Amino acid sequence: MVVYPEKEMRVKKIQRGTVIDHIPKGQALNVMKILNLAEHPDPVTIAINVESGKHGQKDIIKVENRELSPGEVDKIALIAPYATINIIRDYKVVEKKQVSLPREIHGIVRCANPNCITNSREPAKTGVTMEKATPLLLRCKDCGRTMNQQDVIDQF
Ligand code: CTP
Ligand code: ZN
Repeated sequence: MVVYPEKEMRVKKIQRGTVIDHIPKGQALNVMKILNLAEHPDPVTIAINVESGKHGQKDIIKVENRELSPGEVDKIALIAPYATINIIRDYKVVEKKQVSLPREIHGIVRCANPNCITNSREPAKTGVTMEKATPLLLRCKDCGRTMNQQDVIDQF
């Protein structure tokens, strides 16, 4: 692990937007994918495997000029259940919230079972329960099919 002096910022502070911090190391690209952040019109900065205090390494994503919706925060919980969402205005952290672990998630994850009733209705009324956060294990409320993190990432 490379440790940099406190004063030396590896990634610049942003003026306005959202910093998704404490993403598990190696998961930033999956968060990028699930939130479709490559399409964001303003700068998005990704840091992978950076030092995180004494706890090893983490990933960080800084999205400029954008605050996340509650639905997007639920999506992050699927990949980074212990991430911190920092809202930045005028260079200051004006809001810091922990991604919470929802017990159920509605309308975000499609059931992996093609015969599930939620896949025959339009629009699909999907609901999954979160059986386990790490490694992710979801269960369809209708048919009971389980899905893992890769199943979810493949949908986006
Ligand atoms: N940050 C940023 N631009 C700003 C302010 C903060 O990019 N204008 C980033 C920091 O680099 C950090 C995160 O937002 O990655 C949270 O900032 P801060 O609360 O100041 O850091 P910590 O106290 O270390 O956060 P925590 O206690 O959540 O670990
Ligand atoms: Zn199902």
